[in-house]
Amino acid sequence: MTEPTFRTVIEPFRIHSVEPLRMTTAAHRRAAVREAGNNLFRLHAEDVLIDLLTDSGTGAMSRDQWAAIQHGDESYAGSPSYYIFRDAVRELFPYEHVIPTHQGRAAEKILFTVLGGPGKVVPNNTHFDTTRANVEYTGAEAVDLVIAEGREPRGDHPFKGNMDVSALDALLRARGHHVPVVFMTVTNNSGGGQPVSLANLRAVREVCDAHGKRLFLDACRFAENAWFIREREPGQAGRDVSDIVRDMAALAHGMTMSAKKDPMGNIGGWLAMHDDALAQQCRNLLILTEGFPTYGGLAGRDLEALAQGLREVVQHDYLRYRIRSTAYVGEALHRAGVPVLTPVGGHAVYLDARALLPHVPPLQYPGQSLAVALYEAGGVRSCEIGTVMFGRRPDGAEEPAALDLVRLAIPRRTYTQSHMDYVIEVCEHVARRADELTGYRIVDEPPALRHFTAGFEPVA
Ligand code: F0G
Repeated sequence: MTEPTFRTVIEPFRIHSVEPLRMTTAAHRRAAVREAGNNLFRLHAEDVLIDLLTDSGTGAMSRDQWAAIQHGDESYAGSPSYYIFRDAVRELFPYEHVIPTHQGRAAEKILFTVLGGPGKVVPNNTHFDTTRANVEYTGAEAVDLVIAEGREPRGDHPFKGNMDVSALDALLRARGHHVPVVFMTVTNNSGGGQPVSLANLRAVREVCDAHGKRLFLDACRFAENAWFIREREPGQAGRDVSDIVRDMAALAHGMTMSAKKDPMGNIGGWLAMHDDALAQQCRNLLILTEGFPTYGGLAGRDLEALAQGLREVVQHDYLRYRIRSTAYVGEALHRAGVPVLTPVGGHAVYLDARALLPHVPPLQYPGQSLAVALYEAGGVRSCEIGTVMFGRRPDGAEEPAALDLVRLAIPRRTYTQSHMDYVIEVCEHVARRADELTGYRIVDEPPALRHFTAGFEPVA
């Protein structure tokens, strides 16, 4: 019998344990968001109905991850849970040294404390906000070198996360002796969750080799990136995603990792590399700030959950569902005329707030305006990725970001298709009233990473 094929891509799991959602009224949400200074990070999560603020640490763990937690060994040094974790990491990323941290930015902090400093320059396709902040905090400069297509909100380039290889070559020729490491973020979160091709990684590695530079991956969403490679890159169709991940790893000298994304953890991260001397320096700092090298700020049970999560995230049924369900939201919004960044990324759909609210100038934060409106209308929490997040330069000046986006980040295995149908309806509802939305001004802001805590008020 031939295998019948069906159009619907289903969740490759059923639900084992449920959490209630708290329904609220629009009046309640309006009061809550005013109370939070119109900053969605400052809301009580209980006042949120569908939380698409981030896909970080918000996924649902599997039965087998919860079982692995029971297996956790909490020995201070040399816990068997560490070796289970290390081997699961090495199965995909066969680096000599695997150093756990409590999350991704802790790995960044340690690495850039060792490699950064005044006068240094770190190129990346696009730095994520904490990565940029950790580079700049050391006095170094963070430079984004994504290809020109990656800066356009629309288009059909299959790998909009790629790095501009000739721009990298030019930078290394001009300032190479100040560059301690070249970074590639897979997928490129700040650029719309867009993938990087193996061919581009290979070309970047060749340029790094020519200049004697090390290449590191910021690999939070490595499995989603590998699935896009399998789907889109010539010659990659039909390959096992784990093999593609190992190819990605082999092209780099090391990595920083937030295990709160693809490894399906609620907490965790790591640093990995081949270089013995660099690993030694990182471990010394790790002991100062995170903990002993076999737990690095995590409990043994966390390490076990991550090891199991790494085995689950590379399963094809999961990745097919994951990437398809994100595209489902993006395609529905696109059909409804809501401007979205295309192609749709892996972990999130990005609304183009600047296109939807042309009457709100970038320095009045169209992304903030749209994000607050989505919350007020339907209790959907999203995240501004635009001028609020990136507009304040290290010298204190304020400039519009390249794009003003609102990210609907989709937690892994957490929401069902009807939740997403509701989100689509809320977005359509707000888009129909877009011309009524006003801009915002900032009334208080911290010196760095202002988006997390700033207070806003509407411009009259
Ligand atoms: N790198 C990238 C590409 C990220 O997306 C993140 C986190 C980090 C590093 C830092 O990792 O949170 O474990 O310290 N991104 C989350 C987000 C917060 O919402 O996109 P972390």
